[in-house]
Amino acid sequence: MRTVDLIAKKRDGGELSDAEIRYLIRGYTDGSIPDYQMSAWAMAVYFRGMTPQERADLTMAMVDSGDRIDLSGIAGTKVDKHSTGGVGDTTTLVLAPLVASVGVPVAKMSGRGLGHTGGTVDKLESIPGFHVEISNERFLELVNRNGLAVIGQSGDLTPADKKLYALRDVTATVESMPLIASSIMSKKIAAGADAIVLDVKTGDGAFMKGLDAARGLARAMVDIGGRVGRKTIAVLSDMSQPLGYAIGNALEVKEAIDTLRGQGPRDLYELSLTLGSHMVVLAGKAGTTEEARRLLERSVSSGQALATFKTFLAAQGGDADVVDRPERLPTAAYRIPVPAPKDGYVSRMSAERIGTAAMLLGAGRATKESTIDLAVGIVLHKKIGDRTVQGEPLATIHSSRERADEAISMLLESIEIAPDPVPALPLVYDVIDGR
Ligand code: URA
Ligand code: CA
Repeated sequence: MRTVDLIAKKRDGGELSDAEIRYLIRGYTDGSIPDYQMSAWAMAVYFRGMTPQERADLTMAMVDSGDRIDLSGIAGTKVDKHSTGGVGDTTTLVLAPLVASVGVPVAKMSGRGLGHTGGTVDKLESIPGFHVEISNERFLELVNRNGLAVIGQSGDLTPADKKLYALRDVTATVESMPLIASSIMSKKIAAGADAIVLDVKTGDGAFMKGLDAARGLARAMVDIGGRVGRKTIAVLSDMSQPLGYAIGNALEVKEAIDTLRGQGPRDLYELSLTLGSHMVVLAGKAGTTEEARRLLERSVSSGQALATFKTFLAAQGGDADVVDRPERLPTAAYRIPVPAPKDGYVSRMSAERIGTAAMLLGAGRATKESTIDLAVGIVLHKKIGDRTVQGEPLATIHSSRERADEAISMLLESIEIAPDPVPALPLVYDVIDGR
């Protein structure tokens, strides 16, 4: 096989076989295929696309390029959730204990990551004592015992994807739907998922901004899942404004606790119930999403969801008292109200820019080397559709510095106020389940 022939075949719109795709991925991972050939191939894919079978083959070739997490020591169907990313997305913190509390085993490998706020691990580390550096044996034991554990990134998972993603980043080929779909699915499968629930975001703060593009990506991932024997369901959800009210690490932990208690933001609770119901059904713990939803609601109202969260925190060294005494979480030195500039109704928000404002405060990492401030961030008081009164707070900034002018002006620029009422946005646009 010659790499140049495979590039030409894709350039001319042909379909590569499984063996041909494996040849490319293996060669690129071991260094025998150079960047310039892989770039040419990625650009050919960008223009020509991939057939559904090619996407599935690429996914599994990337899975096989590295280690796989073996979750066979955990009883039951392991359902993983993946979000395509957004701003202030607290769902993982809510969902993990919520579904674990009704018997769905949650074995979560999570990273720190770059972005507006830290990743799930950073957020959890705002709980004093909590740590994710646990052995694999302990990880499996905790999932079997408590239904839930989180471990930091370990092993060399999907090295082909890491290398290819970095190459795409500098060759203008990130925006290729089949490459994105295979990239995301390969990581979930390597992490040991038997079944996958995808939260595909659409809107200003999302990776895929337009609804049609997000739907295309969701369909492609659901199709890959079906072809490789991992039942996959995608929920298309709104990210034109941040989810919930809090954007920040400790602030989101507090928001997650409120939500597990049934006193959180309505949108965050609703999306958690929607995603959670699909997870419960895929894990075989309920026959229908309606039944699953009732189980989850009951777990919240009985306090079981919150109790599961406490047990999970304590098992990994965390101070479970933060659940009842959130003042034990890191708090910022200054709280700066941001008053509404005029009367009216919030008509638009730029989730993306609000995220950037949180990052300016120190809530997220711009580079891998940056350190983050777990206490800082933004708490919104208004969402799209809400009425504003001039001078009343639109948001509160939690800052480690007395002044936060840059973040404040960015926040004000990102919230539009119109004179007339505007309808609230839908939260879920569609569910794609491959049937
Ligand atoms: N996120 C991923 O994990 N991979 C992509 O290719 C794009 C977004
Ligand atoms: Ca939030």
